[in-house]
Order: sequence, then structure tokens, then C-alpha cells
Amino acid sequence: MGPLLHYSLLKYLLFVILPHLLTQCVSSMQRPCLHSERSALLQLKESFILNRSASSYSLAYAKVGSWKLEGQGDCCSWNGVECDDNTGHVIGLDLSSSFLYGSIDSNNGLFQLHHLRRLNLSDNHFNYSKILYAIGNLSRLSQLYLSFSRFSGQIPSQVLELPKLVILDLSGNIGLELQNPSLKSLAKKLVNLKYLNLDEVNASSTIPQNLANLSYLTYLSLANCELRGEFPIKVFQLPNLQYLRVSYNPYLTGGLPEFHKNSSIESLKLANTGFSGQLPKSIGNLKSLSFLSVGNCLFSGRIPSSLGNVTQLIILDLGVNKFWGSIPQSIFTLTNLEGLDLEDNQLSGAIKLESLLNLKNLKSLQLSWNNFSLLTTSAVMNVTVPKFRWLTLGSCNLFEFPNFLSGQDELEFLDLSRNKIYGLIPKWIWGFCAQTLQVLILGGNFLTGFHQATVVPPWTNLRILDLGSNKLRGFLPIPPASIYHYLVSGNLLTGEIPSMICNLTSITTFDLSHNNFSGTLPPCLGNLSSSLSVLNLQNNSFHGPIPQTCKKGSKLRMIDISQNQLDGQIPRSLVNCNMLEILNLGNNRIEDTFPSWLGRLPELRILILRHNGFHGAIGKPKTKEFPKLQIFDLSFNKFTGHLPSRHFPIWKAMKVVDVGKLRYLQANFSFKVTNYDWDFSFSYSMTMINKGMETEYYRIQEFLAAIDLSSNRFEGCIPEDIQILKAIQFLNLSNNLLSGPIPSSLASLTELQSLDLSQNKLSGEIPQELVELTFLEFFNVSNNQLIGPIPQGKQFATFENNSFKGNPGLCGNPLSKKCYSEGSSPPPPSLSKKDRDSRSWLEFGWKVVLLGYGSGLVNGLVLGYSFNPMKHKWFVK
Ligand SMILES: *[C@@H]1O[C@H](CO)[C@@H](O)[C@H](O)[C@H]1NC(C)=O
Ligand SMILES: *[C@@H]1O[C@H](CO)[C@@H](O)[C@H](O)[C@H]1NC(C)=O
Ligand SMILES: *[C@@H]1O[C@H](CO)[C@@H](O)[C@H](O)[C@H]1NC(C)=O
Ligand SMILES: *[C@@H]1O[C@H](CO)[C@@H](O)[C@H](O)[C@H]1NC(C)=O
Ligand SMILES: *[C@@H]1O[C@H](CO)[C@@H](O)[C@H](O)[C@H]1NC(C)=O
Ligand SMILES: *[C@@H]1O[C@H](CO)[C@@H](O)[C@H](O)[C@H]1NC(C)=O
Ligand SMILES: *[C@@H]1O[C@H](CO)[C@@H](O)[C@H](O)[C@H]1NC(C)=O
Ligand SMILES: *[C@@H]1O[C@H](CO)[C@@H](O)[C@H](O)[C@H]1NC(C)=O
Ligand SMILES: *[C@@H]1O[C@H](CO)[C@@H](O)[C@H](O)[C@H]1NC(C)=O
Ligand SMILES: *[C@@H]1O[C@H](CO)[C@@H](O)[C@H](O)[C@H]1NC(C)=O
Repeated sequence: MGPLLHYSLLKYLLFVILPHLLTQCVSSMQRPCLHSERSALLQLKESFILNRSASSYSLAYAKVGSWKLEGQGDCCSWNGVECDDNTGHVIGLDLSSSFLYGSIDSNNGLFQLHHLRRLNLSDNHFNYSKILYAIGNLSRLSQLYLSFSRFSGQIPSQVLELPKLVILDLSGNIGLELQNPSLKSLAKKLVNLKYLNLDEVNASSTIPQNLANLSYLTYLSLANCELRGEFPIKVFQLPNLQYLRVSYNPYLTGGLPEFHKNSSIESLKLANTGFSGQLPKSIGNLKSLSFLSVGNCLFSGRIPSSLGNVTQLIILDLGVNKFWGSIPQSIFTLTNLEGLDLEDNQLSGAIKLESLLNLKNLKSLQLSWNNFSLLTTSAVMNVTVPKFRWLTLGSCNLFEFPNFLSGQDELEFLDLSRNKIYGLIPKWIWGFCAQTLQVLILGGNFLTGFHQATVVPPWTNLRILDLGSNKLRGFLPIPPASIYHYLVSGNLLTGEIPSMICNLTSITTFDLSHNNFSGTLPPCLGNLSSSLSVLNLQNNSFHGPIPQTCKKGSKLRMIDISQNQLDGQIPRSLVNCNMLEILNLGNNRIEDTFPSWLGRLPELRILILRHNGFHGAIGKPKTKEFPKLQIFDLSFNKFTGHLPSRHFPIWKAMKVVDVGKLRYLQANFSFKVTNYDWDFSFSYSMTMINKGMETEYYRIQEFLAAIDLSSNRFEGCIPEDIQILKAIQFLNLSNNLLSGPIPSSLASLTELQSLDLSQNKLSGEIPQELVELTFLEFFNVSNNQLIGPIPQGKQFATFENNSFKGNPGLCGNPLSKKCYSEGSSPPPPSLSKKDRDSRSWLEFGWKVVLLGYGSGLVNGLVLGYSFNPMKHKWFVK
């Protein structure tokens, strides 16, 4: 088996830089400040601690440091203080990025500065204070900046009552809420607003239509505000609007209007919303537009060639949508473009490298996950190609490493995955962009190896190296010490894991699965557990004991060492893996008793011990073991005794049916490098017997629940209690020594899709109630001692002879043996509409799995990870 590489990339070039603030007052001939306001300022100063970590702006400094108690210094000359020339009243206070740390209460001197018109407290740490109702006393305020300052709680109605407010910036305060009063009341009251920024404020509501009443707005930013519903289209047509951002509101819907020539829109940022429809041709009228971002929405149709008239465009992000068709050539005339993201659409056609040469300012080009052919003829070797920082040319029908890459020296991110590049990785790749490269993705090609036996990649800042799903031979290349995610799954690599690997103290994902590695596992692997989250060694030829992989404080979330020849016992140190979610030890030679002590791992969801030498009875649970267990596979071992029915009531996760959104089990990581926050996710995979066939799940649905105890020596009855495990979809108890009747309570397992009780000694009749299992697609009770009529109708009409054979006492359809009371059995009804609907819903779920499988089939090989780096716009800690 080998890799399927799926990754999508969302990139945001813009990041908020808290601007440099320099409102230093000019003190010349004005009136000095008033005594009362001077003491109010000093009291304000005293109420905070100065703490460098309270501000993140690099030029931050302690403005209040110069505020002196002694002498008669005029407070109008203090840093950050602005006074009215005539009256001497303090009318402006800019303490942004000033290292202020501490709570604000209503006695704060701030609230005595009744003449304030401008207040800026951005980029400090107010210790999650509420914004106080006393702000209402500052009734002359026209500008209020409280962004990135750790305020929290409900925004008080007093803010909405400030009659002169034209600028309101409360962005970047996670935990701040605008629900009561709501955004709707804000739009009703603050009708003079020109600038409104509520990014990250939880406004959790339907987007109010009266936003379009704010007719003076030039700047509106509502990113990540938990807004829903249809965005009022009139907002786009507000006469003064220049900046509109509603990104990261996934439930916000809407479409784009026709744009007129008189529009002054400069920035449109709708990424990560539910906006849909087409880009109107009239977008060509937006002569001032420099930033257009509609990534990760539901847009479709063709990309209008009128975009070529938007000559000011700097960023064009259309990634992760459904645009059909080819790229209009006019886009290659946009000489100001710095970022072009077309990734993950349904675009096709040939792109000539020459056409990119006009775009001299291009720094980021993302074309992956389409069906482009990038034509890079060697004729253009000698021309100046833009210097890229981000370049994704995945699935661009490349047959070789494009020559122009050798001239690049500023690349941070390079993706050449899923092309048709054959042969050795050229030496120059191993030497370029040594300082800058952070991500290199070469997976899904036909690369065969390196130019020398031992390769030490030179990139000193490399965080992600993906060489998966190629034809690489030879020894494992050791990535640089900076590496976080290292993926070489699905190659032909051989040799041992060098112990040098244990020097990679930042490594988080280490995936060597589906190769020909051999030897024993280095004992020092355990040293990595303070950084390592995903260890995937599946399907190699490792032998010997399993090393002690977990120390206290281990971060391991997935250990998959299945399909090797490892022996011995399960190392007891695994109990230190407090975060472990998946443990797959299947298909090895482990000889041990049931590891009930693993039940103490609070996060364990998947435990697979199949095909080993496990033996003995599964005792009673000692504590509330395995609270999150949802996939439990002990098949093909030598377990004896009764089924572990005492455990059923404590397996909480299998008792509750969760039919939430289709999501997959994965490990998510974020990390920060230079200016960006990155997200990376690794989808868990596994192999399991599903409906009688060994199936590779390259992704696992979050609510999949399954029990496979087949091919052991379990005896006794199937307990009625099994009905408590309401969520299970797959139950396989076949090939054991189970006796007694099939409990009718199985009919309560309404999620069951597959029930295999074959090859036991079950007796009695098949309970009629089982026909109520409307999702049941696979049913096997063959080779038992069952008697009587086979239940008829519904799903049972779809099962064939094989499901029932080897039970001489059974009769009725589909068996040829007739029951005596044949005449009285009801005719098999066809599926009711309701059943069909729910089944097609279910099949939809499966289809998603299979589709991904099919489309990701690289060399007929399948693997399970998806790669989702994401650059965020801000540097919220
Ligand atoms: C400084 O602020 C940080 C929070 O940003 C806090 O954790 C730390 O304790 C503060 N230090 C002092 C001396 O107050
Ligand atoms: C921050 O808030 C906490 C809880 O309200 C309080 O105990 C602590 O004293 C505050 N710290 C500062 C520096 O104001
Ligand atoms: C206040 O701070 C914000 C964010 O740091 C900045 O954009 C704005 O220009 C500042 N306003 C004034 C009046 O200084
Ligand atoms: C704020 O105004 C209210 C009434 O308008 C007044 O009672 C209160 O003392 C004022 N607070 C301050 C701090 O000035
Ligand atoms: C936002 O507020 C709503 C309503 O109070 C709440 O259900 C939701 O969990 C909040 N979101 C976050 C991220 O806190
Ligand atoms: C505000 O918007 C609402 C709904 O769009 C509208 O009915 C109302 O007339 C508007 N009010 C003003 C003052 O424009
Ligand atoms: C812009 O042009 C459209 C159509 O020509 C017109 O309806 C609208 O009133 C104009 N807006 C402004 C602000 O001039
Ligand atoms: C671009 O603008 C010009 C003049 O404004 C117009 O003639 C042309 O049709 C526009 N091109 C597109 C593709 O819309
Ligand atoms: C390539 O460019 C270099 C320097 O610009 C020049 O000396 C050389 O002759 C060019 N080669 C070709 C084949 O044009
Ligand atoms: C690992 O690092 C240590 C110290 O940094 C060094 O002495 C040792 O040689 C390294 N081991 C290998 C195998 O590179």
C-alpha cells in the first residue's frame, strides 16, 4: 500500500501588523493640562503593571514611562496624550502597544477624562476585563480602538450609545461578545460609523439586514464573528465602501452583486464563508480593487475575463471553489499581482510558463488540485522568472523538475506533488533555497532516489518534508533538525531506522508506513515522545520487541506499528501516552494477555490488536475503562472465555449515536514560523474487515463505531446487554465458539450496517425483530445450528443464500428449503421511501470515503493523510 496525498492550501498573504503609533503631542503655546485630568492620567498609569509580554508589536514601548508625578510637567506633553489647544482638556489618548497589563475597573482614571474624543488602547493586556458601562461617560468619543487587548465578555449597550462614534475597533479580543445588545442594535444606533472592525467578536446571530443602513461606512470587517444567514447585498453598494471583510463565517451565505463603475471598493475578502454563485462580469468595473479573496467558498462558473480590467489587483485568491473552464489569458496582464491562488478548483487547460513572465511581482502562485498542464519549455531557461515564495504546482502534468526552479532562492513553500516526475531527485534541488524553504512536497510522483547514498537535506528551516508515494529506494534520508512533519510513506525504502532520527527533537509526525524498512526499532524512539504525535510504521518488516515509546508527558496521539513482525509484549510504558487516540498493533507476533490497563488512557478511541498471539480471558473491568473507545478489533487471536459484556456499559462512546456533520478523525497541529501560523492535519487510517472484506480506510469517520472479536475462542452466549452499544455500525463475532440463541435485543442496534455471527454454535431461531435493522447491508449467520424460518422482508429481502448456509434447520427465502407455514408468511415488501432516503443518506457518507479513495489512487496505492497548511492573518497568540 502507498500514499494518496491530499492537501489543500489556504494562504493569506496579508497579516495584521499593528501599526506604528506616533501621536506624540506638540507642546508649544497651548494651555497646560488641567490638574484634575493630570491626576486622572496618573491614576490610570498606577492601575497597570508594565509587562513586556502584554504587547506584541515590535516597536511597542512603555509610553506611560515618561509620565511623572514630580514637578509641574505639563501632561499635554506626555507620550500618547493630546490636549485641546484652547481648553487644555485631554482630547486624545493613544496608549496602544504600551505594555499595559492589568484589569480595568470603573474607578479607573480613564473614565474621568470626559473630553476624550480619541482613545486607543490597542495591543495591551487588560486581563480579560469587561468593557465597562462607564465608557458611556466618555460621550464625546468619536474614535475608539480597543483591538487585540484581551477584553472579554458582553460589549455593553453604553458603547452603542456613544453619539459621536465614527470609528469602532474591537477586533482581536477573543471572548468578546456582541449578542445582547446585538449587531443589529449596533447598526441601528451607531449610524455615523465610518469604520467598524469586530473581527473575532462573537456576534453569533443572523446577519442583520440593517447593516446596509450604515451609509457612511468605508471600512467594515466582521471576520470570524459566527454570523449566519444571507449577507445583505446592499452593503456592497454602500457609496463609500472601500474595505469589506466577512471571512471565516462558514454559515454566512450570499452572492456578489453587479458592480458599478462608481464603486470605490479596494478590498473584498469573503474567504471561508458560504458565499456562492458566479463572479459577475461587472467585477471588471472595480477599478480600485487590489485585494480579492473568495477562497474556500462555494463559487462556481467561469472566471470572467473582465478581471483583466482590474489592473490594480495585487492579491487574487479564488482557491478551493468550483470554478469550471480555463484561466482567462487576461489574468496574465495583471502586472501588479503578487499572489494568485487558483488551487483546488475544476480548472483545466495549458498554462505556458511564458505567460507568467509578465507577472514580475508574483510571489505566490498556487495551481495545485486542478487539471492544468504547465508547459515549461527549456527555451525559457534564460529568462527572468519571478522570484517565488510560494509555489504550488501539484497535479500540473509535469514530467520533470521545472528548470526555472534552479534560479529560485526565496522559496518558502514548494509543492510538486501528484505530477509524473520520474527518476532521481536532481542534485540542485538538494541545494537550493537553503535558508528559506520551510515546506517541500514531492509526494505522488515516480521519483526513484537521490544522487548519493546518504543524503542530508540542507534546508535549515524545513518544517514539512513529504516524499510519500514515490518509488524511492535506498536508505532513509535524515531531515534537518528543524523538521516537524516527515512523510515518506509508500516507497521502496530499505534498511533500519538510523538512531540519528532520535536527534530530531521537534519532530511531530513521522510516517514511514508502506516501505521495506527492516531491523529492530531503535530504543531511543521513546525519547521523541515529548514532541512526537504521530508515529506510523505500518507495513514494513521490522522485527524484535516494541520499544518503550512513551515517557511521562508524551504527546503521542497515534501509534501504528501494524503489519510488521514485532514480538514480545506490549510495553507497559504505553500507559504514559495520556493523549493516545489510536493504537494499532495488528498483524504482528505479540504474545500477551488482554491489556486492560490501556483502558486508563482517557483519549483512546481505536484499539486494534488483530492477528497476533493474544490469549487468555478478558476479565471484568476494574475501573471505568476505555471511555472513548469506538473501534475495538481483537480478531484473529486466541482469546478465550466469555465476551467482555461487563465492559459494554462503560464504553460510553459506543452508547451514543452521533450523526453530526461528516468529519474525520485526525490530528491537527498548528505551528508558527516567521510571519505565519500554520495548520497541518494528519488523517488517521486503518484496515478493518467491513462487510466480510478487508477494507483500507484511508480516513476514518469521526462517529464510526465497530467491534470485531472474530476468529478467537470466545464461548458462552451473546449477551442481551449488547443492545446498550447503540452506536455500533459493524459487529463481527464470527468464528468463535458462541452458543445459545441470537438475542432479539440486537434489533436495538439501529445503526448496524454489518452483522457477522457466522461459524459459531448458535441455536434457536433468527429473531424476527432483526428485519427492523434498516441500515443492515451485510448479514451472515452461516455455519451455526439455527432453525426455523428466516425472517422475511425489508433488508432481509437483499440477503443471499450464503448468509444462511450451513444451518440445516433453517428454511424459507432465500434458501430453497420451504417452511411448512409458507402460505402465511407476508410477501417481501420493498424498501419504504423513508428507508430508502435514510439509506441514500448513508450511502452518501460512504461515497465520500470511496470517492476520496478512488480519486486519490496513486499507483493503485492508498494512504491516509491530508495536508492542510493554513496561514492566518493575524498573530493572536
Ligand atoms: C506578564 O503578562 C503575562 C501575560 O501576558 C503574565 O503571564 C505574566 O505573569 C505577567 N508578568 C507579570 C510580572 O505580571
Ligand atoms: C487578573 O485577573 C485575575 C482574575 O480576575 C485577578 O485575580 C488578577 O489579580 C488580575 N491581574 C491583574 C494584574 O490585574
Ligand atoms: C490606534 O491603534 C490602531 C491599531 O493599533 C491604529 O490602527 C490606529 O491608527 C490608532 N489610532 C490612533 C488615533 O492613533
Ligand atoms: C459617569 O456618569 C454617571 C452619570 O452620568 C455618574 O454618576 C458617574 O459618576 C460618572 N462616572 C465617572 C467615573 O465619572
Ligand atoms: C458564541 O456565542 C454563542 C452564543 O452564546 C455560543 O453558542 C458559541 O459557543 C460562542 N462561540 C464561541 C467560539 O465561544
Ligand atoms: C434600516 O434598514 C431597515 C431594513 O433594511 C429599513 O427598513 C429601514 O428603513 C432602515 N432605516 C433607515 C433609517 O434607513
Ligand atoms: C453608482 O452608479 C449606479 C448605476 O449607475 C447608481 O445607481 C448609483 O446611485 C451610483 N452610486 C453613487 C454613489 O453614485
Ligand atoms: C475592459 O474595459 C474596456 C474599457 O473600459 C472595455 O472595452 C473592455 O470590454 C473591458 N474588457 C473586459 C474583458 O471586460
Ligand atoms: C543567458 O543569459 C546570460 C546572461 O544574461 C548570457 O550571458 C547568455 O549568453 C544567455 N544565454 C543564452 C543561451 O541566451
Ligand atoms: C545526536 O546529537 C548529539 C548531540 O547533539 C550528538 O553528539 C550525536 O552525535 C548525535 N547523534 C547522531 C547519531 O547524529
